[in-house]
Amino acid sequence: MSEKIIAPSLLAADFANLQHDIEMVNQSEADWFHLDIMDGLFVPNISYGMPIVEVIAKHAKKPLDTHLMIVDPDRYIKTFADLGINHLTVHYEACPHLHRTLQAIKAEGMKAGVALNPHTSINLLEDTIQDIDIVLVMSVNPGFGGQSFIENTYQKVTDLKNLIQKRNSKALIEIDGGVNADNAKKLVDLGADALVAGSFVFKSENPTETIKQLKEEIA
Ligand code: DX5
Ligand code: ZN
Repeated sequence: MSEKIIAPSLLAADFANLQHDIEMVNQSEADWFHLDIMDGLFVPNISYGMPIVEVIAKHAKKPLDTHLMIVDPDRYIKTFADLGINHLTVHYEACPHLHRTLQAIKAEGMKAGVALNPHTSINLLEDTIQDIDIVLVMSVNPGFGGQSFIENTYQKVTDLKNLIQKRNSKALIEIDGGVNADNAKKLVDLGADALVAGSFVFKSENPTETIKQLKEEIA
């Protein structure tokens, strides 16, 4: 079985010491950086924009997994590619022409991800799953870090794993929101490939050790 992935979300990092936190992730056992971009429209919060993404891209030495919680994400595909982003994930709910958006992301040389809100059914990906590199299953309502994990996510991971196998897709399953040492193992046992963790990592006493602990949980 391939190695499971931990992606710390910088939303919970100390923005006054961002370089320090990026170096921590560089030196840790984490696999990807998770970047959360919020526009105050698709979600009721604004996170950070291009100047911060540029700083992250400059210092980060691991793949940049970027989660766009914005309306009309097509407007910024090229900008994120030019900034050096490796995976670009858009929300299903924000894309009336999802197939076209996925093609546009791949045309820029990035992996194409689709995020699903907690209320959005896995079945809606039946016709695109073969074109998707990563499905980001939201296990909280997007917009804020530090929320509680929604238990129905377990069922969604099972359903998604079945859909991926049925359609012979190579899509990875990534889980985002409320991930911690209590739910990590169950999620990968059900088929998750990558786990995002924000507060659990950055609000802990020793983030490097917490990442190590998560990696051990899912090994
Ligand atoms: C929420 C974001 C998440 C968030 C996760 O909208 O997409 O990536 O940073 O934070 P925690 O792990 O604290 O739930
Ligand atoms: Zn996210």
